[in-house]
Amino acid sequence: MFPSVRPRRLRTTPTLRRMVRENHLHPEDLVSPIFVVPGSGFAREVSSMPGVFQLSVDKAVEEAREVWDLGVPSVILFGIPEQKDAGATGAWHDHGIVQEATTAIKAALPELVVMADTCLCEYTNHGHCGVIELSDTIGHVLNDPTLEILGKTAVAQARAGADLIAPSGMMDGMVRAIRTALDEAGFTDTPILSYAAKYASAYYGPFRDAAESTPQFGDRRTYQMDPANSREALKEIALDIAEGADMLMVKPALAYLDILHRVKAATHLPVAAYNVSGEYAMVKAAALNGWIDEERVVMETLMSMKRAGADLILTYHAKDAARWLGA
Ligand code: PBG
Ligand code: ZN
Repeated sequence: MFPSVRPRRLRTTPTLRRMVRENHLHPEDLVSPIFVVPGSGFAREVSSMPGVFQLSVDKAVEEAREVWDLGVPSVILFGIPEQKDAGATGAWHDHGIVQEATTAIKAALPELVVMADTCLCEYTNHGHCGVIELSDTIGHVLNDPTLEILGKTAVAQARAGADLIAPSGMMDGMVRAIRTALDEAGFTDTPILSYAAKYASAYYGPFRDAAESTPQFGDRRTYQMDPANSREALKEIALDIAEGADMLMVKPALAYLDILHRVKAATHLPVAAYNVSGEYAMVKAAALNGWIDEERVVMETLMSMKRAGADLILTYHAKDAARWLGA
């Protein structure tokens, strides 16, 4: 009799399919990003990210509560400061917007894990992820002077109550510099999630609207990775492991699932994937047009990231996904 091997036998009923399912998504795999702005009672939808809002601190606390109540254990905070300047003062100041939001959210929800994105692009007047010479018009970020500010920023975030520091600027040595600064300030137990393999991607477009962090000149290609490279991702993660990273991230996710898979195979650390703003915007746009089934596309996409090796997924779909998972 042919065929004698029939893979379809294990697909005949929902129960059988459930029994042989290899990967599972849970609300606790997810991290929900929040954009915090000054003021109070303020919520403005980001036009390129339907369902995502810039929120004042009081509203960010409400949002974090919703996230927590849906079973999602963590949020990552991005801040839009009142004022931007050459030294990124808003990033490291004790009353910086992320620091204020962190303290308020932790006071309301002590068990929620608050991650602080640690970068300077939202706080510099030119929008680059580090400091530059005053005369610079091409955006050549000065690596080592930036490290010092990143260290100060991480300490301010930890002091405000951040549970986890997530440096995203792709500066050389950033993990070691932040680890040292945290340790010297007594935060030896604060883990670092390094955006270790972060590519120079067009998929960050909507995020830059949300965070008001588009570079005023030049681009980020002198510090973020070339999308054509994969072995270089392994070099980046090896460095970050050696520098003391506790978790690693690959970003973006969808167009880089091969990288995610290779990174997972190359480390014993937990690996996170960032399902970025452009990935979200594409799905939302198609869904709003009625061209795709949003729930099924989102769940299939998030599952692809789990299957590729993600232990954690940072995603703007976190609340919806948790609802669909029936939390
Ligand atoms: C900035 C930062 C970016 C994102 C997270 N942190 C974008 C950038 O490099 O401009 C992207 C997130 C997203 O697109 O959802 N260091
Ligand atoms: Zn940045």
